[in-house]
Amino acid sequence: MNTIKLRIPSRNLICALIASPFLIGACSQADQTSTPGETPKGSSGAVHASTPDDDFGPIIGEEHAVLTSPPMVPPPITRDHATKLIVDLEVEEHVGPIADGVEYTFWTFGGTVPGSYIRTRVGDVVQFNLHNSPDSKMPHNIDLHSVTGPGGGAASSFTAPGHTSQFSFQVTRPGLYVYHCATAPVGMHIANGMYGLIQVEPKGGLPKVDKEYYLMQGDFYTEGAYGEEGLQAFNMEKALQEIPDYVLFNGSVGALVGDKAITANVGETVRLYVGNGGPNLVSSFHVIGEIFDNLYAEGGTAVNHNVQTTLIPAGGSAIVEFKVEVPGTFIIVDHSIFRTFNKGALGMLTVTGPDDLTIYSGKQDDRIYLPEGGAIQTMPTTSAKEIPSTRTLEERMAIGERLYKANCLACHQANGQGVPSAFPPLANSDYLMADKQRSIKVVLHGLEGPIKVNGESFNSVMPKLNMSDDDVANVVTYVRNSFGNSGDKVTLEEVAAAKTE
Ligand code: CU
Repeated sequence: MNTIKLRIPSRNLICALIASPFLIGACSQADQTSTPGETPKGSSGAVHASTPDDDFGPIIGEEHAVLTSPPMVPPPITRDHATKLIVDLEVEEHVGPIADGVEYTFWTFGGTVPGSYIRTRVGDVVQFNLHNSPDSKMPHNIDLHSVTGPGGGAASSFTAPGHTSQFSFQVTRPGLYVYHCATAPVGMHIANGMYGLIQVEPKGGLPKVDKEYYLMQGDFYTEGAYGEEGLQAFNMEKALQEIPDYVLFNGSVGALVGDKAITANVGETVRLYVGNGGPNLVSSFHVIGEIFDNLYAEGGTAVNHNVQTTLIPAGGSAIVEFKVEVPGTFIIVDHSIFRTFNKGALGMLTVTGPDDLTIYSGKQDDRIYLPEGGAIQTMPTTSAKEIPSTRTLEERMAIGERLYKANCLACHQANGQGVPSAFPPLANSDYLMADKQRSIKVVLHGLEGPIKVNGESFNSVMPKLNMSDDDVANVVTYVRNSFGNSGDKVTLEEVAAAKTE
């Protein structure tokens, strides 16, 4: 076994790396109490700006730690002294849903992804009992970033199925720390969900808030692509390439959505304990429509204010606090935004209570935007004698295609397929073909409100296009004779008739 140790005076930083067939160790936390601009104290001032408070007081009594499953956290610690804190955590492997219709074999601490939340007070001596279920197929261990010691506990906690390992450590630095399995192949154990958070509360605890929740991001690598049904195996090649199929909060698509959303009432202060298990991706953590009043960046003790998005490294954390002032649904995202809308990293905070229309008005008006002013509405009426009223179908199709590409393609798409839930299709469209006059009127006047196209409901706005009668005839002729549609040509007389109705 090779051991490399680096010690810096005043024991502020101890970094240990262990390599063995089973273990890759971790680096313990750095000094969390430095304050920018503070005068250096102590003999190691050249390295660290302040000396940590190592006076934890006597260790009194013992108690069993309350563990909770995400998104809940145990109650704040109210005792004013350190204690012997006994933690019993069971490793359990099981198959569960990673998305609707998609199953995955998760390896867990406490039966959930992320694992059980552990809450301690600075100075506590933690007696850690790691149980590995007899049903497990693999040995596991635990590296807690709150541990100051080689491997963060990994070396002492390597546990075969059906065994329990015991070790103990003192939590000496307040903060929010990641724990994870560190059994080889380490990346695979983490990718299967083996991570969670252990909090070390400072003396006196954190300021009181109304709601506290536990979220943890992780990236997942499956044989099948996102959403492919059935039991999906772990894919090592994708993990090596760092191209996840899923990026998730709390271990599955929709874990914090709908009736599983976290909740608060208007006027309450919410504190989120947020971790990132990785194994690979860094999170750009953001709550849409909120600003973090207080941010304990990287889970340390320095507090920043008024932050929109915070980076959470793999194997790191953050504590964010904000007061919710208006009701609604606040979307929790990784602002590397394809991960949110295409890989699952989307949670919800539902806030109920009275509106405050000064803080946020909601939509006050919706009107057609005419960049060149209302006058254009009457502008392009080419006089009848200039227009060849006898254009052939082929002529109308050729001009209509150019008009379509310039005016319609962005919404209705190149092949007239539309955009699901947003813009209706023109291809094989029952709505378009059922009523020629109605289609002409839509182009003449625009369209707003609910319609049904090919059985699907749409409720969007199509602006008035301000085309000449000839061009209306051209573009309607084009769409009614393209994308699988087959009709006849639209004449100027039909456009004129539609205008007068
Ligand atoms: Cu493991």
